[in-house]
Amino acid sequence: MATPTIAILGTGSYVPTRVLTNEELSKKVDTTDEWILTRTGIKQRRIAAEGESTSDLAAHAAKAALIDAGLTAADIDLLIVATITPDLPMPATATIVQHKLGIGTHAACFDLNAACSGFVYGLDTASAMLASGRYRHALVIGAEKLSSVVDWKDRTTCVLFGDAAGAAVLGPTRGDGARIIATKLYSEGGMAEMLCIPAGGSANPASTATLAGDQHFIKMKGREIFKVAVREMEDAVEEILEQHAMTADQIACVIPHQANLRIIEALSKSMEIPLDRFFINVDRFGNTSGASIPLALDEARRLGRVRRGDTTLLVAFGAGLTYGAALVRW
Ligand code: ACO
Repeated sequence: MATPTIAILGTGSYVPTRVLTNEELSKKVDTTDEWILTRTGIKQRRIAAEGESTSDLAAHAAKAALIDAGLTAADIDLLIVATITPDLPMPATATIVQHKLGIGTHAACFDLNAACSGFVYGLDTASAMLASGRYRHALVIGAEKLSSVVDWKDRTTCVLFGDAAGAAVLGPTRGDGARIIATKLYSEGGMAEMLCIPAGGSANPASTATLAGDQHFIKMKGREIFKVAVREMEDAVEEILEQHAMTADQIACVIPHQANLRIIEALSKSMEIPLDRFFINVDRFGNTSGASIPLALDEARRLGRVRRGDTTLLVAFGAGLTYGAALVRW
């Protein structure tokens, strides 16, 4: 049996309706719109409603992606949810999303924890599983309710994050030239402590002491991560282009992880790819971790920034530290 060529057949996204502006945040913590905007490029972010969980956001995005692909839940036999904010520690949020979408028991469903690189990790995993011929159509979803793990008293982190979901349907190419050209993943585990949620796992189980010590929230060494992020993304982009004998000129649109506008600007400068070829929506949604790239990708497609025949470059970094890139032809 010939190895099938795998393409992205459709995308979808969802953001909660509640908008939280910098102005509102400056009434909760000691910060200003000006500080947040100049240091990060973020103007506002979305916050999930009470009772709205990661699986709800994921299911909305997945439904939109299925419609875009012209498929139904019955066509899906692989479902991956990339998230660091699962509905529950167990079972996997993917199984909850499966139930919400009405996907049959024949489907393999699991979560993937690669933080902000989760969607690129999911693309790599799903495309390899589909290429094996053992699965036909996959849903890869990046979904986060980061507002549930943000310390709303900590101005150094709470201004950065938001809630959202983005999804892609993958399957055999429909003969129009569309395909996932390549994916490349990396991890630098020695830097895990730079960005983590210290408690709630087996190393530091939940206790009254961990609760009192605010150990269930995101802790981050922002300045250090900034430098590493630019270097890691540069390496990932250089290597994937080189391995596939491509140059930056051939990339119609770069979809970077939306963590900080200054990081994206630094990458644009070092890669000598003009900033207007980067799709940027961090100003409206902040950093939505695993949801960041599929949300931006879906918006970019809907706004006509990604057209048939174009090659896009996805590039991510996140907790782990994980990083990676993908080249996708449409
Ligand atoms: N409002 C006002 N002042 C603030 C705020 C705030 N919200 N936050 C920090 N400050 C202060 C600091 O206390 C510090 O004050 P000091 O000089 O008196 O000590 C000053 O501002 C400068 O702080 P820095 O941390 O040096 O600011 P920097 O320019 O590095 O910007 C930021 C901080 C935005 C976090 C930046 O470092 C960054 O974006 N880093 C990358 C982080 C990132 O991308 N993380 C996501 C990874 S993805 C994932 O997997 C979830």
